[in-house]
Amino acid sequence: QWSFAEVTDKENFYGNSNPIDLVKKYGSPLYVYNERILRARCRELKNLVSYPNFVVNYSAKANTNLELLKIVKEEGLQVDAMSPGEIFIELKAGFEPEEILYISNNVSAEELKYAIEAGVMVSVDSLSQLELFGQINEGGEVAIRFNPGVGAGHHEKVVTGGKKTKFGVDPRYIDNVKEILNKYNLRLIGINQHIGSLFMESDSYIEGIKSVLDIAGNFDDLEFVDFGGGFGIPYHKQDGQERLDLAQLGKGLDKVLREWVAEYGKEITFKIEPGRYIVAECGVLLGEAYATKVNYDRKYVGSDLGFNVLMRPMLYESHHDVEIYSKQDRESDNKEEVLIVGNICESGDIIAKNRLLPEIVEGDIIGILDAGAYGYVMSSNYNQRLRPAEVLIKEDGEDVLVRRRDTLEDLMRNYEF
Ligand code: LLP
Repeated sequence: QWSFAEVTDKENFYGNSNPIDLVKKYGSPLYVYNERILRARCRELKNLVSYPNFVVNYSAKANTNLELLKIVKEEGLQVDAMSPGEIFIELKAGFEPEEILYISNNVSAEELKYAIEAGVMVSVDSLSQLELFGQINEGGEVAIRFNPGVGAGHHEKVVTGGKKTKFGVDPRYIDNVKEILNKYNLRLIGINQHIGSLFMESDSYIEGIKSVLDIAGNFDDLEFVDFGGGFGIPYHKQDGQERLDLAQLGKGLDKVLREWVAEYGKEITFKIEPGRYIVAECGVLLGEAYATKVNYDRKYVGSDLGFNVLMRPMLYESHHDVEIYSKQDRESDNKEEVLIVGNICESGDIIAKNRLLPEIVEGDIIGILDAGAYGYVMSSNYNQRLRPAEVLIKEDGEDVLVRRRDTLEDLMRNYEF
């Protein structure tokens, strides 16, 4: 019955349990993660290329659940961080400071100091922040994010490289970079980029890599070049969407890296920085249908899956495949077109638009698939709703709570001073 398992890893996604019992046990809405799938994705990426000095930095912004981070660490990946908060939680999960790359963007001196004192490598993304870093940490080691002018992504809001975005240093300023490095006696040991989020073909990624390697050639003493994340997953599995061809990408990557190293004359470390690819498919968001209605010829299924729980559809018009789990046997196989909506007081609160699904009745459980990335981390208390609980299906099939649901008292926490 649980077809999502078949399209991911041919394993029962829900282990020894099932969506209905999980909601009964832990409440709704509920994020459910599958450990086996998470580990499988980590391993696929670790084996992407045959070039030996290759590091996968999990981009933890996609999902910072502590238990998931611990699994990623166990799999031998490193991590990136986007804020002191991410550094903090990554250290708690057991990552060593030297396994963390802080990719800073417009941050205060205090934030830079926090990272430097924690012993974490810092990447800065403008001349002005390089100056600030030099003032704070004269004689230190630093990385710089460049923007080679290439971008890609599933939505304009997540195309981070290219000529119209705020990120990275424009390579025309390489001489200025060198001046600031000299002025503060800084050693540039790494450069990084991120062209954007969610590519399904290797070409744009390989193009981005070539451009950043061209930039890297201007510096003598590098220890690493980090190509960023963006590895896509097929969100339209129910329509037969193909996976990203990792074998092809790996082959292309290997070739480019080996050729470049031969020219540069020094073996350096190459890093990739995927978030979504590692965690999206190991997560399902479960919710419950509470009401159905027809409003002016459109059928609505009202649920607890508001955009406070999963923002992606509202923010980027993102598609997530949906599965319905019924408590009773269905009387008919008829399908109907519905909109699945949440309980937030905004009309944009639609998690799935115009989907052809078996008739949904009150009490049915709704599964929003591929919700492990940018799900819980982007959830909020909007409307003073409580953020959901998170459950992990362990490799042995047992389910464990890995973060409790908010309580009403949590809403009062920041008034206590
Ligand atoms: N590295 C950097 C510097 C990034 O900014 C990002 C994502 C990544 C790595 C990881 O990208 P990924 O491999 O996950 O595509 N909230 C959006 C995605 C925002 C991504 C922002 N940066 C979404 O839900 O689609």
